[in-house]
Amino acid sequence: MTRTHASLIGWGHFAPETVVTNDDLAKMVDTSDEWIRSRSGIEQRHFVTEDQATSDLSIEAGRRALDRAGVDPEDVDLVIVATSSPDYLTPPVSSQVQHGLGCTNAGAFTMMVGCTGFVYGLVTADQFIQTGAYKTVLVVGAEVISKNLDFEDRTTCVLFGDGAGAVVLQATDAPCGVRSFELGSDGSQAEALIAPCPGTRNPVSQYAIDNRTHYLRMDGKAVFRFATRTMTESLERVMGKAGVGVPDVDLFIPHQANARIIEYAAKQLGLPPEKVVMNVADYGNTSAATIPIALSEALDAGRAKAGDTLAMVGFGAGLTWAACLFDLGPLAVSPSDAGEEADRAGGDGAPDSVIDDRGVVDGLIA
Ligand code: COA
Repeated sequence: MTRTHASLIGWGHFAPETVVTNDDLAKMVDTSDEWIRSRSGIEQRHFVTEDQATSDLSIEAGRRALDRAGVDPEDVDLVIVATSSPDYLTPPVSSQVQHGLGCTNAGAFTMMVGCTGFVYGLVTADQFIQTGAYKTVLVVGAEVISKNLDFEDRTTCVLFGDGAGAVVLQATDAPCGVRSFELGSDGSQAEALIAPCPGTRNPVSQYAIDNRTHYLRMDGKAVFRFATRTMTESLERVMGKAGVGVPDVDLFIPHQANARIIEYAAKQLGLPPEKVVMNVADYGNTSAATIPIALSEALDAGRAKAGDTLAMVGFGAGLTWAACLFDLGPLAVSPSDAGEEADRAGGDGAPDSVIDDRGVVDGLIA
């Protein structure tokens, strides 16, 4: 009996035009380009403007992925949006994305699994396709973290950015898609990465706002320890489950939180640099969007090719982790192959300074 597999047939990413360099941030908070670069590898990040939200970035990335795949939005069966920064707590942002893209025949749900959300979403989409329940699924990872950052907390605000990436998976008989995976969670470390308000534990109140509990807080050292351990171990386990080793994997696409974490994991596993995607310098940590953005860039650049085996691994709030081995089938070829690559990166890509003399970055007050 032939089995149904999930083929990745479309991809796309989008980052808001506004680029904030480390020097821009140093005008708002007590930090420096040297500190940020040496601790994280980050050189710049993209921030939304006041009127942009997560659904806007998701829809742009999703549209690019559907165009690339040559899929009519009405033929999409399911839209999964992975994010920790939805437009609203209710309604789910996935329905805004489904509507905005014109996926009128699709179900939609949001996965709030922190930075690991895209891998959770990809594995879930693959399951729906393998069972035969759905034929075409759009998976988006998108975040607007900048609006939840405390620009009085220099240990955290310098590390994050905004962006979105998306893929289209479609049913095929060809052997491809998720070959092995691991989804992990350790809720005992919930406090290590948390935005305490708003929620049912801490509804919005003057007290909550006065104490700045509506901003993201992070115990950087705890997350660093967790990340370095889980990235290496979960990658080893998914390779073990599939019976493959490092030489059998064509490209490793890790969560882009910090260059030091990626380099540590690469060293532990003996990965050559050319097999590891790293773009944290350009985007910072865009949480659930880092892996789909890195994947989309790798596909655009021809670093990931038809038939390749990819390893993806993420870690983040929860604390959670997720890893998978994903085999690429034949890739979609769209008109955009003819030369719209510059457009794909969002904006013109030029790192213009956007801060004015008063320390205002497009509505964010320093
Ligand atoms: N600019 C300048 N100095 C800063 C700073 C900043 N933005 N943030 C912190 N510092 C200072 C600290 O106050 C401290 O000063 P002190 O020694 O005088 O007290 C010093 O730098 C060292 O801070 P420390 O926390 O020891 O740095 P670190 O080497 O642990 O690096 C992180 C901090 C956050 C970069 C690191 O812990 C990390 O990357 N953690 C993982 C975070 C992550 O990936 N999160 C996302 C998960 S999805």
